[in-house]
Amino acid sequence: MPSPSRFFALAALLVSATALVPPGRQGVPVAGPGSSNTSAPMTDNLLIVKTASEVDQKSGPSVDAPPNASIPPTSVTAVDGTLTNTTVADAGSSRRRDAGWLSMRASGFEKLFDGLPIGQHDASIEGTAYLTYTVVNNATYNVQACLDWCAGIDGCVFVNVFYEFNNFLLDFVFSEKSNLKCAAYGDIHTAAEKTNFGGQASYPQVGNETVPLTFITQSSGWGLDSLVDPTTPAGYELVFGPTDGANNAPGYMGFAFIDKYDVDACAQLCNTRGVDPVGGGCAYFNIWRALVDGLPTTYTCSMYYLVADESTAVNFGQGDLLVTYSRGYRRISVLPDGGFEGYTGCSTFCFTASYSNWIGTSPPSGNWDATVFFYPPYAHTGHSVALLTSADGVDSKIGTLTPAKKLGTEVGTNYVIQGFFLSAFGGAQLEANAKVDILWNGVRVGGTSGFTPAWKFVEVPVVGTGNDTLTFVGGSVQAWTFIDDVFIYAA
Ligand SMILES: *[C@@H]1O[C@H](CO)[C@@H](O)[C@H](O)[C@H]1NC(C)=O
Ligand SMILES: *[C@@H]1O[C@H](CO)[C@@H](O)[C@H](O)[C@H]1NC(C)=O
Ligand SMILES: *[C@@H]1O[C@H](CO)[C@@H](O)[C@H](O)[C@H]1NC(C)=O
Ligand SMILES: *[C@@H]1O[C@H](CO)[C@@H](O)[C@H](O)[C@H]1NC(C)=O
Ligand SMILES: *[C@@H]1O[C@H](CO)[C@@H](O)[C@H](O)[C@H]1NC(C)=O
Ligand SMILES: *[C@@H]1O[C@H](CO)[C@@H](O)[C@H](O)[C@H]1NC(C)=O
Repeated sequence: MPSPSRFFALAALLVSATALVPPGRQGVPVAGPGSSNTSAPMTDNLLIVKTASEVDQKSGPSVDAPPNASIPPTSVTAVDGTLTNTTVADAGSSRRRDAGWLSMRASGFEKLFDGLPIGQHDASIEGTAYLTYTVVNNATYNVQACLDWCAGIDGCVFVNVFYEFNNFLLDFVFSEKSNLKCAAYGDIHTAAEKTNFGGQASYPQVGNETVPLTFITQSSGWGLDSLVDPTTPAGYELVFGPTDGANNAPGYMGFAFIDKYDVDACAQLCNTRGVDPVGGGCAYFNIWRALVDGLPTTYTCSMYYLVADESTAVNFGQGDLLVTYSRGYRRISVLPDGGFEGYTGCSTFCFTASYSNWIGTSPPSGNWDATVFFYPPYAHTGHSVALLTSADGVDSKIGTLTPAKKLGTEVGTNYVIQGFFLSAFGGAQLEANAKVDILWNGVRVGGTSGFTPAWKFVEVPVVGTGNDTLTFVGGSVQAWTFIDDVFIYAA
């Protein structure tokens, strides 16, 4: 005979278990997040505009820089409103770096502005996306040599050609012995950005003689009439653009400024952004150039856990800031229909073991041990959702759920499986036994267990071997776990 308190606890458990209407009979969950909509955060345009007024990404060849320096990696100048000076993490993927920033450039450089007449002091450009410089033979005003050199540089769309006098290093130290500088940029600049007038002491002080100061003459600009179309980063697809509207969209995770229009760098930032506990991983980014008072000022990468499109690309700028070259890219999941939205068996409530995209399997004598429901109240997003363990609550067998087709994965590529799991339907006591294993080619790589009162985001790294299989395996006791919004991204 159990003690009275133990008896009452047991009785309460039995009552609650028998009173419970299971999901297969459209029951109401005992616990869980309910249908309360916490609205997804929107793009923080004010912070972006404010930060754009604080960054200084304008530069050019400094007086003591040697020519032909290699182009530094794209750097991050601000993250979520805080100024930084870091380079974009390469995330171990060298393959990824050779697309995107590099892109096919038509010839078609034209003179955008002239230098001042010979003899007059002029100024060189200080602008965004400065790459590197060289010196060209100064026997003549050698623009063609400068353009030819630029043509060999990934992303070079503009050059500034000018003489710099009284630069000791150019005159005596660097081997080229030329003072005709050719500076390459990844953005197109105008004469309004001629702000470097020289005036520096480069020659050594000798006795009490006045050191001659540097000065600049004949500073002209040559460039394309627009930025080139970037190559789509690996693992992404272009959703829209270029337009003059940035996204003002839900599921916003934050932003970074980078020092040039580098879609690959944005993709890396999205891949390594980390996770929003409610929304999950970065699934989309919006890259755009900010013009402030008409001048290129910074390059924004806004990141989102929800995929946006052109319909929300309606932020054209504020005050002095104008949005240009806005493009949206979504991350490609190699898992088709990971949100189960392809199941549309009814318009209110229904479920199935299998449909065209997913196969749920129950063991012999098992009953609906792996199912997909059309029923928005059970779903994380949309109208459909998967369920493991007996939908009608009549057995405790182990069901499995797997995509109908093998995955189009690539051998040796790192992937990350992301998904949302909810084990709350039966309440804390029953769901304490909930369990789902995530198998990759039959091997357990992760999972979830126990009562989770809110949708839980789970992320598991895996390596592609080609034609891989993903399987979700349920627990053996009567504890339900819903699964929704599963993605498999190249990491
Ligand atoms: C919940 O969000 C969805 C999509 O985000 C929206 O369509 C729906 O109207 C929202 N419901 C409530 C009650 O706010
Ligand atoms: C720098 O590049 C220019 C143009 O390609 C070339 O003529 C020059 O020899 C290079 N200088 C050095 C030191 O490599
Ligand atoms: C960023 O850091 C690099 C290396 O430390 C330095 O050369 C560069 O001048 C810095 N840039 C800014 C804007 O602080
Ligand atoms: C060419 O550059 C060298 C080195 O700076 C300088 O000494 C020389 O005067 C320049 N020649 C012309 C024609 O500007
Ligand atoms: C510079 O120094 C020399 C001798 O060292 C002196 O004769 C001359 O007056 C000085 N000039 C000035 C401008 O100080
Ligand atoms: C994947 O499956 C296809 C068709 O069955 C086959 O042609 C291909 O070689 C497989 N790839 C790998 C990496 O096993």
